[in-house]
Amino acid sequence: MANENKQEMMEKIASLCKRRGFVYPSSEIYGGMQAIYDYGHYGILLKNNIRDAWWRAMVQLRDDVVGLDSAIFMHPTTWVASGHVGGFNDPQVDCKKCKSRFRADHLLEEFGVIIDDKTPIEELNKNLDKLRDEKKLKCPNCGSTDLTPAKVFSLMVKSNIGSPTDELKEENVVYLRPETCGGIYLEYKNTVDSLHKKLPFGIAQVGKAFRNEIVARQFIFRTREFEQMEMQYFLHPDMMKDRYGHWKVERWKWYLEYGIAEDKIRWYKHEKLAHYASEAFDIEYDFKALGGFKEIEGIHARGDWDLSQHSKFSGVDLSYFDQEKNEKFIPHIMETSVGLGRLVFMFLDQAYTEEMVGEETRVVLKLDKRLAPVKVAILPLSKKEELTGPAKEIWNTLKQNFMAEYDETQSIGKRYRRQDEIGAPYCVTVDFETLNDQAVTVRDRDTMAQERIKISELEDYFKGKLN
Ligand code: GAP
Repeated sequence: MANENKQEMMEKIASLCKRRGFVYPSSEIYGGMQAIYDYGHYGILLKNNIRDAWWRAMVQLRDDVVGLDSAIFMHPTTWVASGHVGGFNDPQVDCKKCKSRFRADHLLEEFGVIIDDKTPIEELNKNLDKLRDEKKLKCPNCGSTDLTPAKVFSLMVKSNIGSPTDELKEENVVYLRPETCGGIYLEYKNTVDSLHKKLPFGIAQVGKAFRNEIVARQFIFRTREFEQMEMQYFLHPDMMKDRYGHWKVERWKWYLEYGIAEDKIRWYKHEKLAHYASEAFDIEYDFKALGGFKEIEGIHARGDWDLSQHSKFSGVDLSYFDQEKNEKFIPHIMETSVGLGRLVFMFLDQAYTEEMVGEETRVVLKLDKRLAPVKVAILPLSKKEELTGPAKEIWNTLKQNFMAEYDETQSIGKRYRRQDEIGAPYCVTVDFETLNDQAVTVRDRDTMAQERIKISELEDYFKGKLN
């Protein structure tokens, strides 16, 4: 997709999100904060529905995965053991002219130079210098050639716990977790002991993670505070190949089930793996607003690294004893890990549709009905009590089962337009005919077809359509 198209699409989606109460830039009245966003009414409804759809597939429908909600603050040694303290860095380059900040590895990638996590900063700078000498290195934002050398930038976000007078002491520093799986590893033993789980089994959780990302205008794709939905599956190493294949199939099916077209997602196989990993694939989605395929979810075979490290650093034996086989071993782990905000962006990107209706352009979010923030809008044709009374009664009945909203403001055309833009699958119009036939008009978001339904049958009608 041409650069202008992706920019235009990004602007359209971000503007709809703000205009219609999905996503706002955080702290806007103070000038905002880069790569931090707040979710408004419709945003949180959509996000919760996506979260619930994930939880349903990962926990509710399975007998081998249990849930967890671990704390954001964890013992600081957790992140030493995991290798994040000291090792979770990005190489940063600044443009001296426009002050934009970039990841050096992303800049080099544009020239086909592939860098991995372990590449020393000196080597990275040698590559940048070479491009500089060849007069190829330019700021992607303003075109200036005045870029700083790369320097190491830690992604870990620090905080402190303890008495305020101790604030500056290094031993009081705690980290805001950079990934949620750390909490799962620390609760592996309690989960086995309390729930008597036998291998193989998984622990799933949804929660906030924090990374001091070097970001460049990607809306909610890459943010500094974000939610992850992660599942860590503990198993005997002999089962890894089989279970890894199983979870790849399961995760792929989930995207199709919620309306993502098969040609809009693909697998990306990581060739350069962390030293403890044996396999890593990403599911990528073809974003209109980002101009191509970008990572959505990672599926990683992590070996016994995590539990071995935490055993070593804590001194607590985290090995598993298989009584049937009389075998003791450190469980291996495979994980599925996806960003919730990134999924919100993916579903919005795929749902955003413009259609010509007569002379006008209709903007409609064609979200899967189960994910749509509001399922039904009840719209009386006039503000007269004879219509608003029955309309509110319908609303009171329907909202017991579905997220429904009532709207009597503005013309019916404008109200339909608003409901289309928030992706409400159905609108119910109460008109003067309703007083005679005890029926209402139900309008379908996607086809705009209208049908007349008896008020007494409405609840069952929507139960059939929406469940
Ligand atoms: N535990 C493994 C892990 O955290 P990751 O590839 O760093 O792996 C997994 O992250 C997923 O989390 C990504 O595929 C993405 O969906 C999401 N994610 C990571 N960093 C993010 C960020 N800064 N903003 C939004 N989502 C992010």
